[in-house]
Amino acid sequence: MVANKTAERPLTAKPVVSERASSGTGNLALDARDVHVFYGDFEAVKGISLPVHEKEITALIGPSGCGKSTLLRCFNRMNDVVSGVRIEGQILYKGQDIYASQVDPVAVRRRIGMVFQKANPFPKSIYKNVAWGAKINGFKGDMDALVEKSLRQAALWDEVKDKLHQSGLSLSGGQQQRLCIARTLAIEPDVILMDEPASALDPIATSKIEELMLELKENYTIVVVTHNMQQAARVSDRTALLWLGELVEYNDTQTIFTNPSQQKTEDYITGRHG
Ligand SMILES: Nc1ncnc2c1ncn2[C@@H]1O[C@H](COP(=O)(O)OP(=O)(O)OP(=O)(O)O)[C@@H](O)[C@H]1O
Ligand SMILES: [Mg+2]
Repeated sequence: MVANKTAERPLTAKPVVSERASSGTGNLALDARDVHVFYGDFEAVKGISLPVHEKEITALIGPSGCGKSTLLRCFNRMNDVVSGVRIEGQILYKGQDIYASQVDPVAVRRRIGMVFQKANPFPKSIYKNVAWGAKINGFKGDMDALVEKSLRQAALWDEVKDKLHQSGLSLSGGQQQRLCIARTLAIEPDVILMDEPASALDPIATSKIEELMLELKENYTIVVVTHNMQQAARVSDRTALLWLGELVEYNDTQTIFTNPSQQKTEDYITGRHG
């Protein structure tokens, strides 16, 4: 349980980003700098700065509507396809501003893949689902090997190796989600953005996705949105709490869950809010 340190906590809404969270020792894969996102006149993300460290899992938590998905979509320019959206600030990927005029958003999404809340396989075979992105990107290597490797990395190979030509839609929900992860891995990204990847899954399928995330972080940087506090605590290295479009607190996950510096954080993770 979290110790009650209300008295010594500031009441300001200023984000508390610990020095370790903002500087850390590792390299940054992504770095959001004073990012604002507007849908028309509505400001959904209000000046968030968030460094994302390489080969770590960063969790975004916070109540519904606080801007988690909006912020996540900034990291690979998925908001570009939403009409009426305006983004201010900078998102650096390995030091390069992904919103700079000469940057191709398709190239950005090749390096920074995304997995959505609801598994969304194409109405095509399991094989074609995985091969799709690589094919579009002009992959010229051994496609069978790439499909197998991606399905193995997504911990799905053993369950589907004898039915690769069946429809992806014939799989269970948890398998479909792993298929979508395999599809993302097949484009060989650096970073994987996951928006509530397990929220529609039962506890066993959820734990498979969590185990998978822990394996993947050996080679990939992951940013995950989750409503599941236990999940954030179990899998992530760092956690950011968002609230009404603002960053309340960002720190290493253990500190966020055992010794947060903001009352809001404590209230949220102990279930008194949200
Ligand atoms: N396409 C859109 N057009 C207009 N407003 C939007 C759009 N998408 C999101 N919003 C608004 O922006 C705010 C943040 O939405 P967002 O989807 O980022 O929240 P969230 O934290 O992911 O919520 P949830 O946990 O419910 O998924 C909300 O007030 C939402 O209504
Ligand atoms: Mg969302």
